[in-house]
Amino acid sequence: MEKLWGGRFTKETNKLVDEFTASIHFDQKLALEDIEGSLAHVQMLGECGIIPLEDADAIIIGLEKIEKKIVNGEVEFATEHEDIHMNIEKMLHDEIGPVAGKLHTGRSRNDQVATDMHIYLKRKTVDIIKLVEEVQKSILGQAEANVETIMPGYTHLQRAQPILFAHHLLAYFWMLERDKERLRDSLKRINWLPLGAGALAGTTFPIKRERTAELLQFKQIYPNSLDAVSDRDFILEFLSIASILMTHISRLSEELILWSSQEFQFIELDDSFCTGSSIMPQKKNPDVPELLRGKTGRVYGNLMGLLTVLKGLPLAYNKDMQEDKEGMFDTVETLEGSLSLLAPMIETMKVNRDNMYVAVSQDFSNATDIADYLVTKGLPFRQAHEIIGKIVLYAIQHQKFLLDLTMEEYKSFSPMFSDDIYTILQPKHVVDARDSFGGTGKQQVLVQLQLAFDKFN
Ligand code: ARG
Repeated sequence: MEKLWGGRFTKETNKLVDEFTASIHFDQKLALEDIEGSLAHVQMLGECGIIPLEDADAIIIGLEKIEKKIVNGEVEFATEHEDIHMNIEKMLHDEIGPVAGKLHTGRSRNDQVATDMHIYLKRKTVDIIKLVEEVQKSILGQAEANVETIMPGYTHLQRAQPILFAHHLLAYFWMLERDKERLRDSLKRINWLPLGAGALAGTTFPIKRERTAELLQFKQIYPNSLDAVSDRDFILEFLSIASILMTHISRLSEELILWSSQEFQFIELDDSFCTGSSIMPQKKNPDVPELLRGKTGRVYGNLMGLLTVLKGLPLAYNKDMQEDKEGMFDTVETLEGSLSLLAPMIETMKVNRDNMYVAVSQDFSNATDIADYLVTKGLPFRQAHEIIGKIVLYAIQHQKFLLDLTMEEYKSFSPMFSDDIYTILQPKHVVDARDSFGGTGKQQVLVQLQLAFDKFN
């Protein structure tokens, strides 16, 4: 098979080399982006008089035909043509003849491939932002329905202080909000266009890079041709943001798994998001959140992979950089899949409010509040802490909770106690007392919900 670059060679490429160096089996995902970039490039070539307008038109018509065929699944890509760029150029040649050869004027595959990936990632980043928003909306829905649902809040996975379930869920809303901000911010840099950098040094043709940028709706062109073809930090940035986002998804998934265990029984995931066991008939396994947690590993791996590929690469293009794609595609697809499942899974989960309430009624998570109570009566916090510690120990030894102790028992620890502690120790009171901004008190959670809703207006 004759190569597009075959002129300088006297021998056929080794078959194994063909297979080893080819990227068409994965970079065919960039087919439409590649055509988009070429359409803009050839239009600019025509407008600048670098190639005759009628040749540019012939190429445009040819590319559009190929585009249709690709969309309709009518093309077959060939390993002999190595990558998506040369596959499409070959198709163009078959479609319109030798004039196809003018498309690559003033361009190299190096600026071409970088351009394709910028177009791809720009589009995907916008899509992913929308998917993050869907998850945020599902969180908002559950939060709104649970502004009175009290659950134990944990530190060290030990019961700490009661909180509203809405408050707990909204914590994830804000994490996702920051992920979204990071994605949006990264668009500024994805919006730099490498096209026109040539192989590494620019081109001898009088191209207009601003024009291709305008046609492709890019906000800026790379000011340095070496940087343009060597830069993959827009992908590293995406992978970093994706890793942080997956960390958040993974932590939420872990909680969903924990909460749906027999030990917690705080929530129940909808049957449609769970699977069974081939041997144990009673099982309902939270496979989806488990996989979300598990898939976080591959996203981190993709980030580490590309960091390692780039480290130590001299400028400008090196074939190593072809390894930038699979991790990027895999991360995009992992995020799309994960976010698309997470939203409806949260939306359909059942919240076992009674179980959560039983949990907070049978623990010592109201202990801080009687310490605060003694403080309001004038005792220094440290002394109050010591007294309540003793009361908790006493209660544990007598198999009681704080609300079960009699006034007599309380008085034996401090004369400062009076009947009002029975109100203060009620979970609802404990929660609502945390009325500081950002706290779990219902009024504050309502303020927070409003701030969250405002993000969508
Ligand atoms: N398939 C190549 C890649 O993905 C395209 C660029 C090839 N450039 C080159 N000089 N061999 O990186």
